[in-house]
Amino acid sequence: MMGDPVDPDLTEQLRKLQAKYSAMGQDLSSYLDGLLHADYLTYWDYIHLDTLLSLQSPKTQFPDEKIFIVYHQITELYFSLILWEIDQLSAAESLQETFFIERIQRINRYFVQLRDSFAIMVHGMEKEQFLSFRMSLLPASGFQSSQYRLIEIYSTDMINLVNTTEREALSEYSDIGQQLEKLYWRSGATELASGKTTLTLRQFEKKYMPEFKAAGMKYRDKNLRKLYLKSFPQSLPVIQCLRELDTLANVQWPLAHLRAAGHYLHKNPQDIAATGGTNWQKFLPPRFQKIMFFPELWSPQEQADWGKAAFENNP
Ligand code: HEM
Repeated sequence: MMGDPVDPDLTEQLRKLQAKYSAMGQDLSSYLDGLLHADYLTYWDYIHLDTLLSLQSPKTQFPDEKIFIVYHQITELYFSLILWEIDQLSAAESLQETFFIERIQRINRYFVQLRDSFAIMVHGMEKEQFLSFRMSLLPASGFQSSQYRLIEIYSTDMINLVNTTEREALSEYSDIGQQLEKLYWRSGATELASGKTTLTLRQFEKKYMPEFKAAGMKYRDKNLRKLYLKSFPQSLPVIQCLRELDTLANVQWPLAHLRAAGHYLHKNPQDIAATGGTNWQKFLPPRFQKIMFFPELWSPQEQADWGKAAFENNP
């Protein structure tokens, strides 16, 4: 009895597989046996759905705390995608302009999602519930997001992350250790009542400062700003997408976040002076922080207007 004719494409695939496995000294036939017994991949295993859905552990009985946790997790996942793209850009052997632009546009898209979804925080939780469950979360804060700090370090030179009042005294070429001492967020986290650094900051620094220093050294010559200056200083499309990134990361997301703080927290600093609160009204607004990843892309007037409302949607 004649069998079905063997599909020539299949024969060719088998030949290629044979070559691949024998190059590694492996027996293809044993692997084919394994394939015969293997289960089909499922969606839930592939994305680790059960694990993903087991990663929310509210500290209180308030139902809206789950929204707070999940939204932070979503944000951290986007942050990881942003770092993923920057890492690939800085590792590229010969950086092409179209590749650079496409990857910055990906990052911008993630930031657009984060900016536009912040309404989930501002309007998507009952205020009373939030004000109650947040007291059970102290002294933890999104301030302690290491990925947020790494996005900053991967994107620009450390000098651009130094507190505005200290920036003049240091230069781009100062020792990284000295620049790290003066990072804008380190001076921001002080308690209103005592003027001391917050426990939030101390715990964060203890865990992450060595990693931030290592990242600063690693990206010193290949952060996004350096890549741009080295490879495409005159390119208008590159400049356009980097200006968008600067606006999204350092004005629009911070303003969306600030709106949430303003919605829930006391607006008068004195009200929270005794509760261990930070001076967030003076710390969070982008017009005070004046963080720009690419300062050379902004005119003196644009820099002076940084974070002002009219500027918000007009990169
Ligand atoms: C209702 C929602 C939120 C409120 C009321 C809020 C409030 C605050 C406040 C008051 C601070 C200043 C530091 C402190 O006192 O802890 C802060 C810092 C911060 N939060 Fe939030 N936050 C909210 C949601 C989020 C989310 C979803 C993220 C995402 C990861 C986040 C990330 C951050 C970061 C990165 C900082 C430091 C900002 C900087 O250094 O410029 N926050 N937040």
